[in-house]
Amino acid sequence: MCGIFAYAGPRDVVEVLLTALKRLQYRGYDSCGIAVLDGDELMVVKEAGPIDRLEKRLTQYTFQARAGIAHTRWATHGQPTTVNAHPHTDCSGTVAVVHNGVIENYRELSQRLTERGHILRSQTDTELIAHLIEEALSEQSRTEDVPNEQVFLQSVRQALSQISGTYAIACLWEGAPGLMIGARHGCPLIVGAGEQEVCLSSDLNAVLPITRKVHILNDDELVLLSEKNLIIVSVTGQELSPRFQVIDWQLVQEDRAGFPTFMLKEIYEQPDRIEEILSQRCRGEQIPFFEELTLRPSELIGFRRIIIEAAGTSWHAGIYGKYLLEKYLRLPTEAEIASEFRYRQPVLEQDTLVIAISQSGETADTLAGLRQAKSRFVRVLGFCNVPGSTLSRESDGTIFLLAGPEVGVASTKAYTAQLIHLFLFTLYLGRLRWILDEDQIRSILSSLSGLPEKMRVVLESHDPIVRDCARRFQNARHFLYLARGINYPTALEGALKLKEISYIHASGYAAGEFKHGPIALVDKDCPVVCIAPTDSVYEKTFSNIEEVRARGGRLIVVTTEGNSDFDQMAEFVFTIPPIFEDLTPLLTVLPLQLLAHHIASLKGLDVDKPRNLAKSVTVE
Ligand code: G6P
Repeated sequence: MCGIFAYAGPRDVVEVLLTALKRLQYRGYDSCGIAVLDGDELMVVKEAGPIDRLEKRLTQYTFQARAGIAHTRWATHGQPTTVNAHPHTDCSGTVAVVHNGVIENYRELSQRLTERGHILRSQTDTELIAHLIEEALSEQSRTEDVPNEQVFLQSVRQALSQISGTYAIACLWEGAPGLMIGARHGCPLIVGAGEQEVCLSSDLNAVLPITRKVHILNDDELVLLSEKNLIIVSVTGQELSPRFQVIDWQLVQEDRAGFPTFMLKEIYEQPDRIEEILSQRCRGEQIPFFEELTLRPSELIGFRRIIIEAAGTSWHAGIYGKYLLEKYLRLPTEAEIASEFRYRQPVLEQDTLVIAISQSGETADTLAGLRQAKSRFVRVLGFCNVPGSTLSRESDGTIFLLAGPEVGVASTKAYTAQLIHLFLFTLYLGRLRWILDEDQIRSILSSLSGLPEKMRVVLESHDPIVRDCARRFQNARHFLYLARGINYPTALEGALKLKEISYIHASGYAAGEFKHGPIALVDKDCPVVCIAPTDSVYEKTFSNIEEVRARGGRLIVVTTEGNSDFDQMAEFVFTIPPIFEDLTPLLTVLPLQLLAHHIASLKGLDVDKPRNLAKSVTVE
């Protein structure tokens, strides 16, 4: 949710922290701050609002720092004000902490600390950690033969032992200049080990510009870091050997490659990404293959039921997966919202495979669903974009989405990467289970060959007309999205894109369900986006669209090239080239992504950082 970064080394610490915060800001952007050890004095500078405000403030200071911590926030406890921004300090101002996660025994701890004379300045749960460390430091008997770094480490361990909830933290203490401590329980934290420099972050993207050699902390591990030292210890104090790995992942481009927003850049990247995925997974028209998949074929053959669990856009991809897996494999498949799946008491038997889909691999509810399945000895297959993420490490096997880093909070290229991977996985499983033979698979695969080019055509030919449409409808108060069959998730996704970034209310419906209530919303001011390629349910969708028109709804239609049915009916028609029906969602979603983007831009909104949202939702 929020972004954490810490650095110790010879570079200009403030500059390194600011650069990292800019890379992390998509994780949260309502306030931010840094703390550095300027010699042996702890200095904290923080601001409500975006990072450039903090950057401006920092021009007033000159620090001689060798270590520092930084944070960009997505508020959970307390308003997004300067006082609530991280880092938080203790009463004496000698300990600074940044934190991701939620402390569940917040009330009890704050009451206890207040009774013991601590003055809490913010409304955050994080501040408590600084005070708990302060208490532990004062309780530690400091003898000459216990070095300060051990005192600090022991104090952090003691503080954490009183906390229930989730956390990733980084902290500094004046008593141990040049040293930082990090710890995790339920939120990601990655240690980077460069030459004479170290860093710590909630996100790989911020570590990679410093070093590609990383250790991904496990839950209940702490790390003590300085320019010269990197020590991993368990929460019980046992020293552990670091498990370094070298990460070969494309870096997030810092610039938008000439596009006005990251989201638009990512929308336009989709044809190339799909091309790359197809070339890696199918190598020509071979049976799809997932090199990284550690679930053995013998295990994948035995399942009799599949449950897909995911959140947001990933859940929409899950519905697409359900339609394919049931159609081709005849396997009962459910697509569940992770936050529901984790709390209802699903029937999970050992002949079930749980598929957890997540771009970030850090969504708290999806991870909880995964853990629930594993606790019942059910195998979990992750579909995930981020290497080293918690989901990829905790799943029994992972298929990586190969979308490359996604910065825009509204997911676009990760969605189409999820769709294509679910499509390919269905074929792979069909072959493994002897339901589809090689000829059938090859014939289906041949329909993929023109896909990237068709995506390019849709994007390039539609941009001007989608802009016109956006201009006409930018002031609409609500939008409806309708589709049937394999494009039902497209209706949900189109509506989600619009509300996420333009703040216009939008809902997606199965077209057949529309007359059971939502049709009452249709009037002359209501744009209705109908996704109606000429597929096997086209006639049915068409009748539903006529019902909308009869009630005065203003139609925007996505259909197949050459279909003139809507020429007189719709205000705007976006066409897709003819393609195999089950692949249409990879094309129909494109004009809808553009529409959401252009409406939000016309309204002057921050497309990449929509209000109240975060890219990676690590709290439930
Ligand atoms: C947040 C993002 C959405 C995303 C969802 C699930 O709500 O704003 O764009 O679809 O989380 O994220 P995941 O990383 O699990 O796919």
